[in-house]
Amino acid sequence: MCGIFGMIGDGAVGNTLRALGYLEYRGYDSAGIAALRKDRIDVYKTAGRIAALKKFIGDVPETDIAIGHTRWATHGEVCAANAHPFLSPQGRFAIVHNGIIENYRDLRRELNGALFTSDTDSEIVAHLLEKEYRGNALEAVLATARKLRGSFAIAIVSVSDRVLYAIKNKSPLIVGMSEEGAYLCSDIRCASHWASSVAVTPDDTVVELSDNGARFFRLDGTPIEVAFFAPDKAEEAERVDGDFMLKEITEIPSKLRLAEQGYFSSGGLGLTRDIARRLSRVYLIGCGTAYHSGLEAAAVARQWLDIDVLPVIASEFIYDNYTVDGDTLAIFISQSGETADTVRACERVRRSGGIAYAVTNTDSSSLTFACQRTLNIRAGAEYAVASTKAYNCQLVTLTLMLLDLGRMRGTVSDATYDEVLRGLEELPRAVEKILEDGYGIAQLAEQLKNSTAIFYIGRTADYPTACEGSLKLKEISYIHSEAYPAGELKHGTLALIDNTVAVVAIATSRELRDKMASSVTEVATRGAKVIAVSPYTFENAVRLAIPETHPYLYGIAAAVPLQLLAYYIAKRLGRDVDKPRNLAKSVTVE
Ligand code: M6R
Repeated sequence: MCGIFGMIGDGAVGNTLRALGYLEYRGYDSAGIAALRKDRIDVYKTAGRIAALKKFIGDVPETDIAIGHTRWATHGEVCAANAHPFLSPQGRFAIVHNGIIENYRDLRRELNGALFTSDTDSEIVAHLLEKEYRGNALEAVLATARKLRGSFAIAIVSVSDRVLYAIKNKSPLIVGMSEEGAYLCSDIRCASHWASSVAVTPDDTVVELSDNGARFFRLDGTPIEVAFFAPDKAEEAERVDGDFMLKEITEIPSKLRLAEQGYFSSGGLGLTRDIARRLSRVYLIGCGTAYHSGLEAAAVARQWLDIDVLPVIASEFIYDNYTVDGDTLAIFISQSGETADTVRACERVRRSGGIAYAVTNTDSSSLTFACQRTLNIRAGAEYAVASTKAYNCQLVTLTLMLLDLGRMRGTVSDATYDEVLRGLEELPRAVEKILEDGYGIAQLAEQLKNSTAIFYIGRTADYPTACEGSLKLKEISYIHSEAYPAGELKHGTLALIDNTVAVVAIATSRELRDKMASSVTEVATRGAKVIAVSPYTFENAVRLAIPETHPYLYGIAAAVPLQLLAYYIAKRLGRDVDKPRNLAKSVTVE
């Protein structure tokens, strides 16, 4: 979702363009930059990719103050006019914005007669700055900030004092410093390419960034102190075969080992025995793939925990009436740590006195600041919009957390615990075996790519795997797909099965093998092409084999052939697998 960058320092235009490249992974449909000249601001913006922007800009002169933006449309169609930056009516300010200004309609009405050049909610900020300007840019920024409602990280260039300002509430904003300059940025990873120290801007804050450094203010103008720290340096990402998604899938075996080691080296669950025994419920909360890892972890933990483990979609949790009290452990799962719905759900738990833990891939993210404890899944940076290795590593961490909870509550024996640990040690090799069969999966993709729909079915802990496989397929191939508990098919969905569709059956349970065989026959006799993802063979189905593994860990391995299948189908359809249409990597608005 929208990315912002701002810089004071030599080569600001070139560096801002480079930064927009690092922010591309978030998902966007247009981009632009504003460069401060001697007494005016030049704005360059286009619909489409950064490459189009670079072509459009050509060889413009450098400058020492610039801001840039990648836009993911929320208000107003995708076009150059709706792309950021926006200039204020008299050209004193230029702004870029990530988030949503919820009261922009009211604010526009108040500016009766003002001429707007776009359909966006963001442009109102440029107008307000001009209206509030009475010779002092900082005062204008503070007055504007007090009028805004919603979520926003806004970077502002001011001509009058040659300063960068920012306003921050509920959308991520990093301030960075180095010998060469000062920076504003949507994420630490991007900022770390320049900044040697960074600060995470708190909500309801205005930032002033000049040659003299950074100053932070509450909205009433009171100065506040914000701590700076040294960020981990981001690596320059390399691709395998041109796609991040495939590179990220192939990293799964090594990342599984790191996730397990990381869990133990960071001190594990970190609850006292008393609290663990007192808990009356555990929520596993996230969105998309992160929600599916919660769904899967809950399905396996039901085998050993004596309290309810409830997976909940974050955006539902915020507005529904789930019980939260001091005996509630809520585990928030998020690769980016910046998903607005997940962070809001966490705030709801904190307000109600629950214990909030983050399971994330990103330290120093909004989620880690909102939670009492963070467990890092150590999957390494994910750039492809479709989340893959984070899912598998989330499952390692969640499984270990819930097993430890079971041990503390006396429902998991040492013998069971050791068995699962042995299973975890063997898992990377099992996944390597699946990856070795990539060629077979690619051939199968060729046969499936013209299906009118692909259904995914599974029972108990295989159902969440089906959900994740289906999500992966639909988001990057655009083929219609749904996931069902296998037994539910005959209650309606069977009407959709014919010889134009395919059904992927995930069948890892020995006990439920016969039940799954019936489901496979049910759809095969109606003409569907059936693929069984299983350690077992099924009549009427092409098999994608997965090695036998510990029953609690099948979900981690079985997701891998489904990730590959989605990838190869999308490739064969000529899709942009890393940047699927309409989607963003980091969903920073509710
Ligand atoms: O960064 P998060 O894990 O919080 O992101 C949650 C979802 O937006 C994300 O998993 C999304 O569903 C992916 N595109 C799925 O591949």
